Amino acid sequence: MEVACKLTVAKALRPPDRGGGITSTIQCLIDAMPAAIVILADDLSILQSNRRWHDLFEQESDPISDCGIGDPYCDFALKLWEFSPVSPKQVARELKIVAAGEKGGASLTAETTLSDGVHHWAISIFPLKIDNRVRIIVSHEDVTTTVRLTEERRTRATELLTAQIEDRRHLGRELHDSTAQHLVAMSLVLIGLQPPYGSSAISEAVAELKSLVSQVTQEVRIYSYLLHPPELAGVGIARALEDYVKGFVRRTGLPVSFEWNVAQSHRLVSAEVAILRIVQEALGNVHRHADAAQAWVLGNQTDNEFSLVIADSGRGIDPTAAETGVGIASMRARAAELGGTLSIHGSTTGTLVIAHLPLAPAA
Ligand SMILES: Nc1ncnc2c1ncn2[C@@H]1O[C@H](COP(=O)(O)OP(=O)(O)O)[C@@H](O)[C@H]1O
Ligand SMILES: [Mg+2]
Repeated sequence: MEVACKLTVAKALRPPDRGGGITSTIQCLIDAMPAAIVILADDLSILQSNRRWHDLFEQESDPISDCGIGDPYCDFALKLWEFSPVSPKQVARELKIVAAGEKGGASLTAETTLSDGVHHWAISIFPLKIDNRVRIIVSHEDVTTTVRLTEERRTRATELLTAQIEDRRHLGRELHDSTAQHLVAMSLVLIGLQPPYGSSAISEAVAELKSLVSQVTQEVRIYSYLLHPPELAGVGIARALEDYVKGFVRRTGLPVSFEWNVAQSHRLVSAEVAILRIVQEALGNVHRHADAAQAWVLGNQTDNEFSLVIADSGRGIDPTAAETGVGIASMRARAAELGGTLSIHGSTTGTLVIAHLPLAPAA
């Protein structure tokens, strides 16, 4: 009965005059907005609402979401929204703080379940002077589609990275197990070719072939190593990285200095795979593109952040090239996936790849 009564009053107050002293210009404006908007009175009851709010929440058939003119907004909010990451009580407090003029506004995110499933909302609370009185406006923007698309994009990016690793692992194994074996067979055939050769031209060709096969074998070993992702295999990130760097140095002949200043490696556990892949990709780039005489891999932990630097003394990355490759894009995606960032700086003295990753809270 009470619900029906409220609805009748709300309907009676709909245009041309929806009461509360709010001008019809303001009413037209908020009605044209896609967000659900309420204007609150001093006691934080709903003074005025727009069409979208009315369509969503002033429903007689649904007592949970029935909230119209004259109802206390906080009661409704506590009942309906699941605010994340804050609690509904904190929201009510925020609202009171903005209403008291102690804060210029507040932004929150919230979730609620409507008849067609879970909706995500971006909620803004802000004061607005209307007819010489300060009113509190609460705008609720339905961002469900954006949230879903972002989640979908994140899932796709993760799938893509996993597929990329699998492809590389496969290619690395093929290079190691097949191409490298064929090269061994070729060098055995060449070793079997013993002088006399009959002409100096053949003798030179055999010597050149031997040298070329040895160079190609070396390259194939390096690529199969770079393509095959290093395994964590329970040894911990510091040890896995150190082993990887040692293997890289042995195969490429490029000196790499490795420094690891991480006091609380347990806070890095969820970032371990990403760190390994970033180091692997960045060192692969140093080998392939930098023509460097020295490289560095540095890991450093501060209170709330972990920073990873891979530097080389090579020719320096061309900023336009940095936007073209898949490797750099996947390093960025790995950092972003963890809520971090990755930047690349090139100069005539070399290239710096810097990743900042958040740490898990200290136990
Ligand atoms: N350490 C580096 N020094 C110089 N150039 C680099 C370095 N790393 C990357 N680059 C340049 O950036 C480009 C893009 O790198 P990346 O995204 O890893 O793709 P890819 O290695 O497959 O070419 C490279 O082709 C290269 O020109
Ligand atoms: Mg690369």
